[in-house]
Amino acid sequence: MAPKLTAVAACCLAFLAARSALAAISPSDADILNFAMNLECLEAEYYSTAINGYGLNSSTLGGGPQATGGLKANLSPDLIRITTELANDEINHVADLRAHLGSAAVPCPTMDIGSSFTQIINKALGIDGFFPYNTDTNFLLGAFLFEDVGVTAFHGAIPQVTQKANLELLAGIAPVEAYHAAILRTLLYQKGLDMVVPYNIRVFDFVQGLSNLRGKAGDGKDQGIVAPPADGRNTSYPFANLIPQDGTGKVFKRTPDEVLAIVYGGNSTEPGAWYPMGMNGAINGSVATS
Ligand SMILES: *[C@@H]1O[C@H](CO)[C@@H](O)[C@H](O)[C@H]1NC(C)=O
Ligand SMILES: *[C@@H]1O[C@H](CO)[C@@H](O)[C@H](O)[C@H]1NC(C)=O
Ligand SMILES: *[C@@H]1O[C@H](CO)[C@@H](O)[C@H](O)[C@H]1NC(C)=O
Ligand SMILES: *[C@@H]1O[C@H](CO)[C@@H](O)[C@H](O)[C@H]1NC(C)=O
Repeated sequence: MAPKLTAVAACCLAFLAARSALAAISPSDADILNFAMNLECLEAEYYSTAINGYGLNSSTLGGGPQATGGLKANLSPDLIRITTELANDEINHVADLRAHLGSAAVPCPTMDIGSSFTQIINKALGIDGFFPYNTDTNFLLGAFLFEDVGVTAFHGAIPQVTQKANLELLAGIAPVEAYHAAILRTLLYQKGLDMVVPYNIRVFDFVQGLSNLRGKAGDGKDQGIVAPPADGRNTSYPFANLIPQDGTGKVFKRTPDEVLAIVYGGNSTEPGAWYPMGMNGAINGSVATS
């Protein structure tokens, strides 16, 4: 009997090993902080490039490359002032996360903040040539695409963190991202009936197209900036839905894989869009993450 039992054990250990290779990894605090930092690197590059013409420096990038494709944006004086504040927050977030991580910090990843938007928006709305740095509206639409993703990523990440100091840090950053998203959503709502030039699509509908695309990659957890017609609010100027939430007053929560699917342009295992080489750190889509 003994040899047979050994054979059974060998079979089943091999089976378990294979299963655990397929099972999702549970990330450490450092993995989660690095994941958040990859998102913050993108946000910091987008805003600071738009106002300065250049993004993070070698020290804040942790040795990673500057994002490509971004330009100093053609923004109104008001939006320049608002964007300056957003940029400072995001640069500080990268620095805060990097300081907490110490030697565990990964460099900011390779990022595309130009043609990536053209591609994503083509996928969402079937239009060509969209560029985020041309006008106030385009710039807000570009920022809208990633800010809500950051907010939902923080809701997903925070309950996974174990150390109090890390929790404290993420709990301080997450509401700032929510403020940012709310500012963008409000500014877009106020422009809701404008047409996005030259596409002849209302801002309301443009935003809805972007939200639908994110919803597809992220398990339906998304909402545009107008209340649904089901509420009986189908008027020529619809009621606002400035806070995307689950119906119980809480923002949606996305898993790392749902976040990666959006920021990679559709598939969490295939780097692309904003992160052409994938994110740096253990949460990068090469292994599923719980
Ligand atoms: C990089 O940028 C940060 C944040 O703006 C600043 O504090 C730091 O002095 C800069 N470092 C270099 C080497 O320019
Ligand atoms: C709003 O109502 C009009 C008239 O009933 C209808 O034609 C239109 O499809 C509705 N729009 C939406 C987005 O449901
Ligand atoms: C993502 O890409 C992988 C590898 O190319 C593929 O097996 C998988 O079906 C794709 N998933 C989705 C949701 O498209
Ligand atoms: C991607 O994640 C895997 C699995 O967690 C890890 O082994 C690999 O080093 C990561 N790649 C990068 C570039 O960080």
